[in-house]
Amino acid sequence: MSLDAVLAKIDDALPQATERLLDLLRIPSISTDPAFKADCDRAADWLVEDLISLGFEASKRPTPGHPMVVAHFNTDETGNGAKSPHLLFYGHYDVQPVDPLDLWDRAPFDPQVEETPKGRVIRGRGASDDKGQLMTFLEACRAWKAQHGTLPCRLTIFLEGEEESGSPSLIPFMKENAEELRADVALICDTGLFESKTPAIVTMLRGLLGEELTIHGPDKDLHSGMYGGVAANPIRVLNRILAGLHDDSGRITLPGFYDAVPELSDAMRAQWQGLAFDHARFLGDVGLSVPAGEADRTPLEMIWSRPTCEVNGIWGGYTGDGFKTVLPAQAHAKISFRLVGQQDPFAIRKAFRAYVESALPADCSVDFKGHGNSPASQMSVANPAFEPARAALTEEWGVAAAYVGCGGSIPIAGYFKTYLDMDAMLIGFGKDDDQIHSPNEKYDMESFHKGIRSWARVLDRLTR
Ligand code: BES
Ligand code: ZN
Repeated sequence: MSLDAVLAKIDDALPQATERLLDLLRIPSISTDPAFKADCDRAADWLVEDLISLGFEASKRPTPGHPMVVAHFNTDETGNGAKSPHLLFYGHYDVQPVDPLDLWDRAPFDPQVEETPKGRVIRGRGASDDKGQLMTFLEACRAWKAQHGTLPCRLTIFLEGEEESGSPSLIPFMKENAEELRADVALICDTGLFESKTPAIVTMLRGLLGEELTIHGPDKDLHSGMYGGVAANPIRVLNRILAGLHDDSGRITLPGFYDAVPELSDAMRAQWQGLAFDHARFLGDVGLSVPAGEADRTPLEMIWSRPTCEVNGIWGGYTGDGFKTVLPAQAHAKISFRLVGQQDPFAIRKAFRAYVESALPADCSVDFKGHGNSPASQMSVANPAFEPARAALTEEWGVAAAYVGCGGSIPIAGYFKTYLDMDAMLIGFGKDDDQIHSPNEKYDMESFHKGIRSWARVLDRLTR
């Protein structure tokens, strides 16, 4: 059977595929830091070249930020007829910053394959999020091409370089290039397995709203002996405001915050119960034991279907070595909200800012800076691509593939529907312990290898 030959090819060529991934991982394409602009460009060039070698018509497409990579494989032109469906594959080549650098066991952009007690891993920034994942699809295409001399259907590849910095160029680019990008269905490889061993298709993603605020008090830093007690202290004000965002049961207190938050359907609740999520292990793996979200919710709900408000950073005053008795002029925080259902990022932003302003004492003021915003998205499981893909995953992993939620955010997943009127299917092979966004990020060799094989099987099923 020809699929078996493609799978055998994938197994044989794994060392070369791994070398190619290591090569891509050596490019420090950190999108959020302007110092790495040329490296982002270089990663895009690397991908264009690789796609051309696979027979795609590929180009780097400028944006006001980092370039997109768009590539087409048109079976019409290669004489194979317009074989359907027309699939689009999305991944992102940008990575998160590496700090704190001193917590890495090796240089983040000097990747290598390591033997660990849990198996072989590819270590380096971006190994899992998302270079290793996006290469699973390209390697599946490579093996298919090597075996058949062509690809199984019309394919468009769309790779972004700004996903980790809120995708500022994405909507305009999708609008301007809608005709070129539209396909029957989008495949996205930027999510994970369920509990490290069960393949999964993500059916819902949370949205995201980022807010930064600065509380201003006195017009200069003050001696805390001279002024402490009488002067307003912005750090205390900030703490009180942040502490007021949750009540004792873990609910967020902003007026109207839960208005557009739907309850889980009975069917979904039953399906999630069937997944028997081991929350003790999930928390135990990161040194915790007690779920700390809303009191009356299950841990899976807390991660997948409930909104959150988290403080991601807080600073102000003297934080250097030693001690300084200072009363600071300013205090700062970065806050993110994960959104679900129909929650509108702009309405949440308005409610948050109104709350902060109403809680300011005399002599204090506040500045806000908005960061990314994207609504939650829900995939259409009824799309005819889902069940064949699920069967393909089940076959590869030997465990029934699950429909799951995802606590993270991938803004484009919803944009495909909104701007191109197409469904997206999220399939990924990351594991919970990949340490994405953290020091020592890794991608298991098993994820990489079986990920490539999974895509070959999905392509086979979708084009039969
Ligand atoms: N690949 C992640 C999304 C993800 C996170 C999937 C966890 C599965 C598990 C993605 O690259 C990411 O980190 N997105 C950011 C979005 C942002 C910066 C707009 C996120 O979720 O914080
Ligand atoms: Zn990602």
